[in-house]
Amino acid sequence: MALLLAGSRRPGRASRSRLPVQWQYRIPRMLVDKHGRALEDLRISVTDRCNFRCTYCMPLDQYDWISRDQILSYEEIGRLAGVFARLGVRKLRITGGEPLLRADLEDLVEMLARVDGIEDICLTTNGSLLADKAERLKRAGLNRLTLSLDSLDPATFARMAQRGDLAAVLAGLSAAIETGLTPVKLNAVIERGVNDHEVLDLVDYARSRGLDLRFIEYMDVGNVNQWTSEKLVSKAEILECVGKRYPFEPLSGPRGSAPSERYRFLDGGGVFGVIASVTEPFCGACTRARLTADGRLVTCLFSAGGHDLKSLLRSGCSDEELSAAVQAIWNRRTDRYSEERLAAISSDQGYRPEAVRKLEMISLGG
Ligand code: GTP
Ligand code: 5AD
Ligand code: SF4
Ligand code: SF4
Repeated sequence: MALLLAGSRRPGRASRSRLPVQWQYRIPRMLVDKHGRALEDLRISVTDRCNFRCTYCMPLDQYDWISRDQILSYEEIGRLAGVFARLGVRKLRITGGEPLLRADLEDLVEMLARVDGIEDICLTTNGSLLADKAERLKRAGLNRLTLSLDSLDPATFARMAQRGDLAAVLAGLSAAIETGLTPVKLNAVIERGVNDHEVLDLVDYARSRGLDLRFIEYMDVGNVNQWTSEKLVSKAEILECVGKRYPFEPLSGPRGSAPSERYRFLDGGGVFGVIASVTEPFCGACTRARLTADGRLVTCLFSAGGHDLKSLLRSGCSDEELSAAVQAIWNRRTDRYSEERLAAISSDQGYRPEAVRKLEMISLGG
């Protein structure tokens, strides 16, 4: 299997023997894809279930749920995390569905915190089950979390989330802050005609609590959220709205592979960001891999399918074999869906989201 490992820490036998011992583990390993993008972050979905039904993510009641025996155990996830860490992954994000629906999630966090090389363990949650769990998660080694909060108005919240209640989410948020799972980031998907009138309310709320709010452009993930470009509120519109009340400037310093473009309020009121994956795609710096709850490696949020690692894992293969499989997948990676979508939107033919089959966000983890 030909692998493209620039500066591998494990050179082939012949070259390894020629290297002085002290160099063998100093050469930075870099596993890169076809566009030269490294593999740095792994987003781990622990379940495809959610207790909410956000219209932009999981509008239907029923899906073809992953059966229990197909869901990776914490031990299996921990082993895979070790393999990814040895390939250069430094950051893990636990997602879902709603990850806190999985029993004893702190056991997984504890396991992941022990993986050599992992520097950051984060969680993305809807917050509804967090109030009781924040402290245990923090003790287990969770560094910080991101909470989805699209509205502060109970009626709009109910319209978007379809289940669950805002009070439980806000209680979860308070618990996260009190426990020190900070900085807490807030994700708000803005949908035209639904919550776009709340942009400034969300800004006021985040500023008053010192939270790092990120607005997300509505994306056409999956096949069932009825996305149209009319529902999208662009980064430009969001910035115009925020700037009318609170002048800001872009944060200096490199953005790296982060999806959000960040800004600083000129009055010292903190920072906020916009994730503009539709109007300003960031595929060129995309270093994220995704692991589904049933052990498929997915290399793009808009992929049609994944690469089955679970069968390998359960066939009794070695870590080296798992690693070789991951390397081969990443080496072949060419994904740049959001850039291609923008090109299609701007073309004469236009863009038809329904023409492309994609995995649903709940199986991928946002
Ligand atoms: P940290 O930097 O770790 O705090 O998180 P982040 O800025 O990477 O943001 P997070 O992982 O919470 O992602 C926020 C949202 O951005 C996700 O829920 C997605 O909606 C979107 N997003 C994240 N990664 C990608 C990506 O690779 N492609 C696209 N199109 N959207 C992404
Ligand atoms: N567009 C943009 N963001 C989305 N998310 C889920 N579905 C979409 C979508 N269609 C975001 C949610 C959540 C994260 C997991 O993914 O806001 O914070
Ligand atoms: Fe559940 Fe999060 Fe999707 Fe909403 S966005 S349905 S809370 S996974
Ligand atoms: Fe990465 Fe795919 Fe998102 Fe582009 S669209 S940033 S390749 S996940």
